[in-house]
Amino acid sequence: MTTLGTPLSPSATRVMLLGSGELGKEVLIALQRLGVETIAVDRYANAPGQQVAHHAHTITMSDPDALRALIEREKPMLVVPEIEAIATPVLEALEAAGTVRVIPTARAARLTMDREGIRRLAAETLGLPTSPYRFCDSAAELQAAIDGTDGQPAIGYPCVVKPVMSSSGKGQSKIDGLADVQNAWEVAMAGGRVSHGRVIVEGFIDFDYEITLLTVRALGVDGQVETHFCAPIGHLQVSGDYVESWQPHPMNPAALAEAQRIAEAVTADLGGQGLFGVELFVKGDQVWFSEVSPRPHDTGMVTLITQWQNEFELHARAILGLPVDTGLKTPGASAVIYGGVDAEGIVFDGVADALREPGTELRLFGKPESFSKRRMGVALARDEDADRARDKAKRVAGRVRPRAAG
Ligand SMILES: Nc1ncnc2c1ncn2[C@@H]1O[C@H](COP(=O)(O)OP(=O)(O)OP(=O)(O)O)[C@@H](O)[C@H]1O
Ligand SMILES: [Mg+2]
Repeated sequence: MTTLGTPLSPSATRVMLLGSGELGKEVLIALQRLGVETIAVDRYANAPGQQVAHHAHTITMSDPDALRALIEREKPMLVVPEIEAIATPVLEALEAAGTVRVIPTARAARLTMDREGIRRLAAETLGLPTSPYRFCDSAAELQAAIDGTDGQPAIGYPCVVKPVMSSSGKGQSKIDGLADVQNAWEVAMAGGRVSHGRVIVEGFIDFDYEITLLTVRALGVDGQVETHFCAPIGHLQVSGDYVESWQPHPMNPAALAEAQRIAEAVTADLGGQGLFGVELFVKGDQVWFSEVSPRPHDTGMVTLITQWQNEFELHARAILGLPVDTGLKTPGASAVIYGGVDAEGIVFDGVADALREPGTELRLFGKPESFSKRRMGVALARDEDADRARDKAKRVAGRVRPRAAG
């Protein structure tokens, strides 16, 4: 049974978010609504989530000493990673010592922080269908993997190269033929999160569509973990970064059953309690596992308007041991608002005009600094069906015009 306390008192239920961007901000708001005392950590000051938490800290979360010192000082009951670039061995050590509970588990945070851990688990340990892949440490190894001259089946063309440590499409590129290989290697080396000259090369999957299947592991009445699925979320990626998402995405029953089977298998292995974003490619009845976030997913921001309990509330409830409801309220869509400018303290024109459209909402994240391709906000829309909602969300996003102040 879960007992919740009073924030800023000795009975407080204290939760620390590692990463306090737009997704962490919404998790923090959901926790605040349950009277949880919140601690927002990020690598820069005034990150979106820090603006709504009881306490804020700015540290390098990939620095093991800094991370350990902060957790030992703040003594949260739960540590909730919101980003991948965290010193996960520290989390594993503190979890093993019984100092904190890590969401969903410290092992899940470690396995999903680079593409190798999660891909080997999904494909080799769990036997789930994925694109053909290989890990390479040089341009020569990459070429050999594509050609199959390394003694293993050829990955062939087209294929996709990604740094093992990267997200949001950074360092990722498609290779259509021999002429692209060297460039893809260089793009990956420049775009990886740490200079860690290792990439994954994946055979290109010619999918009909891709979805995020939000999957929640939450406690049932008997105290056992139960798995719940949200309606499939369709999304559009440009250069590996999400620009639009919608829910529900129609799926035939066989593909949906296979998607849920894959999501159940991978989340059960990662374990713990919380919400996961399982990314899947679909062609006809065939489904491939792509990757999984052991936390709310950017494409899942659409649930802020479509579900009775959005993905952030589901995460908050699940980690606190509370019951969840993944029911859909209405079809809807989200469309990303990019900064468009490189500037600090930007302003947004056109907000009233944008919100004049019925059935719409905006989230402006409050990031202190804008970059041309930085996600600064999102437009949300509901309508009779997801296609109409997509059009509306794009219209609304287009009316919001960020610019430098002054
Ligand atoms: N093997 C593949 N075949 C076809 N398309 C792919 C493949 N791998 C990736 N993509 C496309 O690129 C997108 C981004 O890839 P992936 O999710 O692996 O990268 P990411 O950097 O982790 O992105 P994010 O952090 O935004 O989820 C996918 O959603 C898909 O549209
Ligand atoms: Mg992805």
